Formats: sequence, structure tokens, C-alpha cells
Amino acid sequence: MDRRNFLKITSVSGVMIALAPSTISGQLRADDGRLFEAYEKVQLVDANGIALKAGELTQEVNYIFNYPFVGTPAILLDLGKETQKDVKLTSEDGETYIWKGGVGAKGAIVAYSAICSHQLAHPTPDNSILQYLQRGKTTMACKQKGGLIVCSSHLSAFDPLQGCKKVSGPAEQALASIIIEVAEDDTLWVSAVLGPDKFHEYFKRYKVEMKKYYGGKRKAKKRVQNSAPTIVLNEYTKEVIEY
Ligand code: FES
Repeated sequence: MDRRNFLKITSVSGVMIALAPSTISGQLRADDGRLFEAYEKVQLVDANGIALKAGELTQEVNYIFNYPFVGTPAILLDLGKETQKDVKLTSEDGETYIWKGGVGAKGAIVAYSAICSHQLAHPTPDNSILQYLQRGKTTMACKQKGGLIVCSSHLSAFDPLQGCKKVSGPAEQALASIIIEVAEDDTLWVSAVLGPDKFHEYFKRYKVEMKKYYGGKRKAKKRVQNSAPTIVLNEYTKEVIEY
């Protein structure tokens, strides 16, 4: 068994116990100290249920899929260039963790939770205020020209080449990353979340939205199983808002 798929948690009594990832909930620390939670291993597919292939992704285009829960959006990107590796990140609580880097032939494919680590702005079927901005494009968030995930709600910018580390704005930590892998047949799979996620606050705050888009909070909180439809942002949402 992959070491990362077998987590340790300290019980109230202080005794270390091991739990299979599919039976656990809440945020745990992996046994090497990283913030990490395993979820169901899920294949990324297109809107027709056909397997998405790493080699078919268009570079620097935002693809949206929901993971690890039915109601939590995430962003998939082929950045077109190799990311940094083994980036050390720190949560707003002072926890440190290591983001390993992009996957695929070039080490350029990444996935992140699309819920802003500041005040939870995120893409919805009606509009999106948080997305990747292609290299060369300007933003009011900072001087860097694109190559960033920008949340235009309060102008936080995150660098997807560096584990979505915050580079400017009021956010105090990175976006959580989604653990993604490319199989031998070039298909894409996601299996876990690394870093401090905002799922608990998100479900608490957006009850009305969960009802509108997913039929209620309970349905939105179900874990995604088997496959996750993955579509380009402009098809996922009616309006993209970028400052
Ligand atoms: S919610 Fe994203 S910057 Fe405030």
C-alpha cells in the first residue's frame, strides 16, 4: 500500500491508530506531517462521460470539475511548463506541508480547489470570480502578468506553479491542492486533497446555493464517486468576472 494512503491519527487518549482513508472524515495530518486527506479515487471524464486524456488538455485553459464533494469546485490546468517541485507551504495556522509538483509528461498538469482561501469565492454555474489568468494578461491583483489564479473578489493571486502559494492580496494561505495522477494510458485520476481546505466553512455559508445547484446541502456534501465530469470554465459558467 502506498504510504500516503494509510494515515495515522491521534485519538483523544493519545494512542496512535491507523484508519483506511475511505472511512475517515475531517482534516487529518499525514504520518509525515503534511496536511493531507485521501478521498475516493475518481477518474476525470468529459461532459459525455468519456475519459479525459492528459495529452488532450489545452494549455492554460481552465477546466472545472467537482471534487472531493459533489458541491465543491476544483480547477484542472495544463500550465504548459514544468512547475516547481517540493514547494514548502504554510497554512494560516502555521502548519507546513510539501506540494510535490505538477504531473504528466512535462510536469505541468495541476489541480486545485477552486474555493478561495480568503473568503470562499468560487466558480458557480452563474458566474466565476476565481480562475486562472493566462500568461501575459494583466490583473489588478498584482504586477505579474498572468500565469496566476486570481480571485477578483478581493484581488488575491495564487501561483499554480508553486502549489498555489499566495503571491498577493488578503488571502493568508494557498489554495488547497487536489492530488492528481496520470495513468499509463494517459487518463487522469484524482484521489486526495493536500493543504488546508475550506470545505467546512463553505458548506456552512452557502446553504442557499447548495440547494439551488445541487438540490440541498446533504446532496452537495456527498463524496464524488467513480468519475467527475470536467469541462472548460466558459461552458461551466455563464459569466467570467476578472479584474
Ligand atoms: S474571497 Fe478571494 S480574495 Fe477574498
